[in-house]
Amino acid sequence: MADPGEESHATASPEGDNTDPKPTQTLTKTAQKKLLKLERYAARKAEKKAAEKQRKAEKKEKRRRDWNEKIESLSPEEKAKLLESNKEATWERIKREKEEHRNKIERLNKAAEVGQKVVLDLDFGNRMTANEIQSLSQQIMYCYAANSRSTNPTHLWLTGCTGEMEARLKKIPGFDKWIIEKETRPYIEALNDQKENLVYLTADSENVLEELDSKSIYIIGGLVDRNRFKGITMDKAKEQGIKSAKLPIGNYLKMSSSQVLTVNQVFDIMLNFIETRDWKSAFFKAIPQRKRDNAEGETLGEEKVATQDAADVVAVTKEDEKEDLEEGEVEEGSVSKKQCIRETKDEEHMASEDNNTTEDNSLGTDNGSKELL
Ligand SMILES: C[S@@+](CC[C@H](N)C(=O)[O-])C[C@H]1O[C@@H](n2cnc3c(N)ncnc32)[C@H](O)[C@@H]1O
Repeated sequence: MADPGEESHATASPEGDNTDPKPTQTLTKTAQKKLLKLERYAARKAEKKAAEKQRKAEKKEKRRRDWNEKIESLSPEEKAKLLESNKEATWERIKREKEEHRNKIERLNKAAEVGQKVVLDLDFGNRMTANEIQSLSQQIMYCYAANSRSTNPTHLWLTGCTGEMEARLKKIPGFDKWIIEKETRPYIEALNDQKENLVYLTADSENVLEELDSKSIYIIGGLVDRNRFKGITMDKAKEQGIKSAKLPIGNYLKMSSSQVLTVNQVFDIMLNFIETRDWKSAFFKAIPQRKRDNAEGETLGEEKVATQDAADVVAVTKEDEKEDLEEGEVEEGSVSKKQCIRETKDEEHMASEDNNTTEDNSLGTDNGSKELL
């Protein structure tokens, strides 16, 4: 909304301190407010990051102290026994992880032959900012990790994977080893012989997806755009003369904002539906609580959830949430970014684990995680 004081000008100093010795630049009151808000946000973010770093360092230090105390309180025989049993636990965990890894490879290879085909259309690279491309690459990483974990994975394609988008993806640890179809051509060329089976998933379609057809190839638009390009995927499907469909969200849920979801949320829904054939549970698992109807006008922090029709979920205006989504953060019920990176680069992970087991002081813990002291 236009600020009544829009016409008045002031210096760029966020505090309105006109004694700032730096060269001054006139800013409208609205711009000043925005600047202040941005600075407050950056300061909050830095504080949060520093606090988290401190908390982790303290936790690590406490573990180290506890371990040392424990070791020192033991006789040499007890100490040797404890180290031995930790070593065994570590080996057991590695064996289990290797087995899981083999199973995962088997599942993904099988999916490449018989799995439901899903395409992530990466042809919109030139429409996005560098941050949005980064966010999308993280969402793709989550998709791949979820697919690898699934007992019933899809046959996943990345099409139009070129330029900045490809460069970003290549920075993901282990990306070159992913079991996925990487295609530089757009899907309309790469899958031209199956054009009649292509179905673009788009919130703007009039068709509601009731079931998944194993012959169909479902396309998800690789876009992080806060719905700046409203209708872009629907228009694309129309121009190309391919089918389109929207998820049946409205039949099962009331959303607090729009029904436009992020790429990884849509992909999670597909995966969940393939496993359960139950849309409701698929939506509940993949769509975070705060995006489901949580009382109209309910505020999230300082600002309200965007409610305009078809606003992208990334249009949720609370700063932290906006940032989370921009960074591709996956929400409730999902894995952490760290876990995701670990899963997607597990070839390297396996190798480094092998090396770690040679260390006598490796400590296996109950939940299978390991600390090197
Ligand atoms: C962040 S959205 C992109 C929104 C973009 N403005 C558009 O017009 O598609 C990412 C992709 O997820 C898929 N998607 C999101 N919400 C959907 C819904 N409710 N039904 C079907 N597909 C959806 C679409 O393929 C969409 O392109």
